[in-house]
Amino acid sequence: MRKQIVAGNWKMNCDLSETKNLIQVLKVQDIPSGVSVMIAPTYTNLLAATSLLVDYPITVAAQNMHQSASGAFTGEISAGMLKSVGVDHVILGHSERRAYFKETDALLAEKVSTALEQEMTVIFCFGEELQDRTHGREFDVVKNQLQNGLFHLSGGDWNNIILAYEPVWAIGTGETATPEQAQEMHAFIRRTLAEKYSDEMAQEVSILYGGSVKPNNAAEIFGKEDVDGGLIGGASLDAESFMAIVNAFV
Ligand code: PGA
Repeated sequence: MRKQIVAGNWKMNCDLSETKNLIQVLKVQDIPSGVSVMIAPTYTNLLAATSLLVDYPITVAAQNMHQSASGAFTGEISAGMLKSVGVDHVILGHSERRAYFKETDALLAEKVSTALEQEMTVIFCFGEELQDRTHGREFDVVKNQLQNGLFHLSGGDWNNIILAYEPVWAIGTGETATPEQAQEMHAFIRRTLAEKYSDEMAQEVSILYGGSVKPNNAAEIFGKEDVDGGLIGGASLDAESFMAIVNAFV
């Protein structure tokens, strides 16, 4: 049975004290059994987050990492560094990394390999832009992103991959894909995995939806057969909204 997951991507928000406060509020909430909850604070607050969450069922993820193990890469962070502060999950390929930091599919493929070599779990983000959808090429774009970023992996590697389909036009815009659009794409993604690997493997991969998920639309989106949860941006910065989304599985 694949996992139901709600992950909060805090992006470049929350200083150290805000991070601690938000975590303290989250810690007094009940986490429903069967739902994996993750938060991704910024690098400087990861150690505080893992320290506060020892023995608590919220996983801390990083928002990015470098593809090399170490070396002369000023300003960068390696997988080993993340692991040394208790972080073994990492978001890769977020559309903001692709757009503003020019991360390509080829670079992401390298980052994914490095993360898996370091025994980390990857939350791999991908999704089409608005003009792709208006031109009817959203399925081709998504298939290419999957092929280029992830299809070098063996079937077994996928035990440590979580997918996050995030149509770029829905991120931070308040415009959400309809539950039907999300389901249609998630089913396509699963079929694409089944064709490359096997149906059994495709059924085991959690596919999250991301893009303006809020307490008022989460239940309908998560209710779709191939949607296994969400990657939440804006609404994850408010404990009440985030917990409402965590509790939205029916
Ligand atoms: P949003 O962000 O929920 O604010 O649209 C989602 C994301 O960027 O992962």
